[in-house]
Amino acid sequence: MDSKKPIVMDDEDEGSTGPLKPPYQTPKGVHDILPHDQKFYTFMKKVVRHRCRQAGFKRITTPIFEFTDVFTRGIGASSDIVSKEMYTFQDRKGRSLTLKPESTAGVVRSYIQNGMQNLAQPVELYYIEPHFRYDRPQKGRYRMFWQFGFECIGESDPALDAQVIQLAHTILKDLGIAELFQLQLNSIGCEVCRPNYIQILRDFYFGKERSLCADCKYRLEKNPLRLLDCKEEDCQILAQIAPKLADYLCTECKEYDKNVKEFLEEMGISFKQNNSLVRGLDYYTKTVFEFWDKTDGAQNAIGGGGRYDGLVELMGGQKTPACGFAAGMERIIAAMKREKIRVPEKDDLHVFVAQLGDEAKKKCLPLIAELRERGVRTMGALGKGAIKTQMRLADKFKVPYTLILGLTEVREGTIIIRDMSVGTQVTVPFEKAVDEVIKRIGEKNLDRFSPTEVIV
Ligand code: HAM
Repeated sequence: MDSKKPIVMDDEDEGSTGPLKPPYQTPKGVHDILPHDQKFYTFMKKVVRHRCRQAGFKRITTPIFEFTDVFTRGIGASSDIVSKEMYTFQDRKGRSLTLKPESTAGVVRSYIQNGMQNLAQPVELYYIEPHFRYDRPQKGRYRMFWQFGFECIGESDPALDAQVIQLAHTILKDLGIAELFQLQLNSIGCEVCRPNYIQILRDFYFGKERSLCADCKYRLEKNPLRLLDCKEEDCQILAQIAPKLADYLCTECKEYDKNVKEFLEEMGISFKQNNSLVRGLDYYTKTVFEFWDKTDGAQNAIGGGGRYDGLVELMGGQKTPACGFAAGMERIIAAMKREKIRVPEKDDLHVFVAQLGDEAKKKCLPLIAELRERGVRTMGALGKGAIKTQMRLADKFKVPYTLILGLTEVREGTIIIRDMSVGTQVTVPFEKAVDEVIKRIGEKNLDRFSPTEVIV
């Protein structure tokens, strides 16, 4: 496909391309992240930020769209992503732009554009971003999806590859799902040894073209390495008996691969050598890896990455080695849900304030403000409604405590604290309400954030 041509949605995928009628729906493969799922994203972002910071990585956000050439050149024109999956459109001046299908190419563009080669190397960057691929939607495969990832640019050493893998592994461990995935590892050689192997591979497939699927016939011409990871049965049979890249690596790549593995062993990270792992993006050199679901295999890889020593130069910078990793956040969340991993629910309310009458409402407003200020997550039913209706509402919000201020309490200067789990209640002086509530919730459970404290 000409990557500069805007994508035209086909009928089979999207229904009519004409005007839609309300009520509207999201496009296929695109989802709302509803409140009940936000806690997973928040938790994951916290884990990623924490582990990346510990390892010296700094956060970067590249634009949601870039000039199309950033991706065509970076990821490779013959890759599935560029040839079939990009959301490409033209701006008002006819320039071709693309929603980012991945972040590595954009991060490298930014590294060059912002002169980061002048900083202390390696430059270590991480991101947590939405991405867009016009893939056929199915379980774990969406058209808008989130990735977290990190890139280590400016140095080449097997220890760095191992460290990137370890960082990914640590994050999966923190999220409680590391055990579900197996690290698949391979080396796909470098500019010295790979061309020779590709010729050997082409020779092997010569005369066998008829047994290949349509995609592989195209790959044989444009990107023969991808023949090795085709999922079609006939292609797999051939791939299994095809010459192995491992047997044709140059001495440097062999040594590099050996060292990466030794470092991983040293850190107690188990892996499986996978000779047909080549990755779907063209920029890789030497180390490539993916985390595969132990039951589903490659189908639902949770994440992948590798070394890309030629990319910075390919994109117009100086020759600069690099490596990185990215993981699919929706797939991780699906795994966490499967494993019934519990994540902290910060949205749960502590207190519901019920009131009756204008005087009570007047007193409740500053009370609610003070509760919130001191870290108590508070919901006030300030609309009209009988106390009974408000109590039913409190039940629905599943609050542990309700404060009740009726006509009598206003007159007596008191307030009722109701423990919703046991249904008991006590009356306390109004001015003690906040302290009494905090005593019950516990200081450590308060929701406090003081921006000024952080800034100082
Ligand atoms: P990737 O293998 O294309 O690598 O994507 C990484 C992860 O993103 C996948 O393993 C998967 O979990 C998730 N993912 C990809 N496509 C989709 C989709 N359509 N729906 C849901 N999840 C998806 C990269 O993107 C490279 N940039 C990784 C990298 C960083 N290499 C070096 N540095």
